[in-house]
Amino acid sequence: MPEVAAPETQYEARLRSEELRSIINYHNRLYYQLDTPEVPDAVYDGFMSELRAIERQYPELITPDSPTQRTGAAPLTTFETVEHRVPLLSLSNCFSEDELAAWHRRASERLENDSFALTTEPKIDGLAISLVYERGRFVQGATRGDGRNGENVTENLRSLGTIPKSLAGTFPPQFEVRGEVYMPKSGFERMNLAISEENLERERAGRKPLPLYANPRNAAAGSVRQKDPSVTASRPLAMFIYQLGWCEGTRPESHHETLEWLRAMGFNVNPETRLHANLPETHERIAWWERERERLDYDIDGVVLKIDATRDWDRLGYVGREPRWATAFKFPPQQRTTKLRQIAVNVGRTGVLTPFAVLEPVVISGATISMATLHNEGDIRRKDIREGDTVIVQRAGEVIPQVVGPVLSLRTGGEHEFAMPEECPSCRTAVSRDPAEAAAYCPNPACPAQAIRMIEHFASRGAMDIEGLGERMAYSLFQSGLVRDVAEIYDLTAEKLMTLPGIKEKGADNLLRGIEASKGRPLVNVLLALGIRHVGWETARLVADHIGTLEGILQVTEEALQEIEGIGPVVAASIVAWAERTQNQDLVRRLVAHGVNPAQERTMARGGLLEGLTIVITGRLDTMSRNDAEDRIRELGGKVGSSVTRGTSYLVVGADAGSKAEKAEKLGTRLVTEDEFLRLIEGGAGGLESASGA
Ligand code: IVH
Repeated sequence: MPEVAAPETQYEARLRSEELRSIINYHNRLYYQLDTPEVPDAVYDGFMSELRAIERQYPELITPDSPTQRTGAAPLTTFETVEHRVPLLSLSNCFSEDELAAWHRRASERLENDSFALTTEPKIDGLAISLVYERGRFVQGATRGDGRNGENVTENLRSLGTIPKSLAGTFPPQFEVRGEVYMPKSGFERMNLAISEENLERERAGRKPLPLYANPRNAAAGSVRQKDPSVTASRPLAMFIYQLGWCEGTRPESHHETLEWLRAMGFNVNPETRLHANLPETHERIAWWERERERLDYDIDGVVLKIDATRDWDRLGYVGREPRWATAFKFPPQQRTTKLRQIAVNVGRTGVLTPFAVLEPVVISGATISMATLHNEGDIRRKDIREGDTVIVQRAGEVIPQVVGPVLSLRTGGEHEFAMPEECPSCRTAVSRDPAEAAAYCPNPACPAQAIRMIEHFASRGAMDIEGLGERMAYSLFQSGLVRDVAEIYDLTAEKLMTLPGIKEKGADNLLRGIEASKGRPLVNVLLALGIRHVGWETARLVADHIGTLEGILQVTEEALQEIEGIGPVVAASIVAWAERTQNQDLVRRLVAHGVNPAQERTMARGGLLEGLTIVITGRLDTMSRNDAEDRIRELGGKVGSSVTRGTSYLVVGADAGSKAEKAEKLGTRLVTEDEFLRLIEGGAGGLESASGA
């Protein structure tokens, strides 16, 4: 959190607290009622902490309606209001290990014991929901609302597969459970894609486009609060239960037993919940979450720690609306706000102009960000991003940073709307527009920027994978005139390369070795390297299986391509149009003449779910022997590795695993549990990603 200078007098404190209350109320409304938050949670949390600090110092300034005295905002009136029998609470936040230790110390002092068991659960970023069951039947579902009163969304929730309509085993006659409804990231992307596609239709029909959701949380909240339950039913929602609410009858004595019980009744309890003997034991798990969070199919913004013994809950009680027996450890924000200095334009290898953001540098989860993608012109307009705006920037994992949107409340009036340049920034040719795709592009086939990008793409990982041929080398090869198109890469010699500034014999030899090695890459890589429009890895794989040889691409017909399952008319037309261009035919022939001779292996035998993956197993597996597991991998077309290398796709970590996991961590290899491995052999890599309890 940025440090804010504390007000020096009570008068200043009053002014600032009033200001903060109105800022917070404004954002509460956006967040809780309109599902359109404008600032990252971390910025909001910063406002709240500042207000709390002032109120702590000057308690006389606390007003009954201060946002610190209540949770959320009053519900909108479109749904029937439900009064929660027991209010839904919030959690205190810890932003560092020190704060967590302080929380633990306070609880220890009250309990006169500092060694108590705790559970850790992911803090899912969705919306809190309360479910009521009577005689084992689901009778009511409500949003949290302001904590006391929520909205009755029972009918909408009925369509969620992860909410049991009737319960199994033994259960109390009447009780309530609480949890988080969320949208898996994969589902979110699919849904936004479907909306974009529908919008194309709408645009053609002259209808207003449907709004896209900014993130899975908003999408979940927006989907739950639909007037028409069938719309909710069409959205990929899921729910995790994390708490037993009010309950008639006796309850288990610990939180972890409660969760086990709820799971036995049929509720979806997060399988990643863990029980720890004491605080130090939670550290490793928190670090694990921080590392793994990107790989999960749902967004989490922290880890919730709860003291396990429910007896202690009664002894500890609450501060305001927050229990003393639980807290949320929040991860460093992956979103920050900064100034958007300028919107510049990049020319891609197909000539498409893509705007990007030049930012005032900002540190986001450890990396300094000064540039971010803005996707396209339409996106800038839709989000109303202007030069000079304060914008929210997000960085998720290794993904390129993105501009989420402007902070409208911080506009000064000095911002500039963006307009696409009329000329290509590289070659000054007048820009054309493709009306179907609304993209601006440079029509000049000899545009240097396009050629450089194409060389870079051709040599990139996943394509020809030529080591040493990155962005800079592509630029200097083109500028020097040594390489005008990708086939000329194979004309390079050590003498030619050594004419480039800074290239000595060793560098030249290394590059030539990389170029030589690329000649034997699999056909799918070569197809991908050609940069044919609409041909991504998946399509390239299908086409490679069909054509068998590189020259085969020159003979395929649209009909034949369309017969391949997974290839539609647009993609087929794009491939054939590419192959019909004389310049491309010439390129393919020259590549072949230069000895580019792709490995002939079929990329996927039928049913080869694990084709292309190399899997290493370490430790003991519970459900099968190592040998059986390895056989299964081979049957499914995967390779079994004996040690972890850069080429390892997954390391399956069983019980009593040795040092392989450490090596894998160093190399950034993905570690999977036995459970995940089982999902992998059931559904391939896709099965692993979509399995989130959804
Ligand atoms: S426990 C008294 N556990 O975080 C304890 N909350 O600020 C109340 N949340 O809106 C909540 N994952 O919806 C708890 N595993 C988890 C959670 C969780 C997400 C949300 C919850 C609430 C907010 C608390």
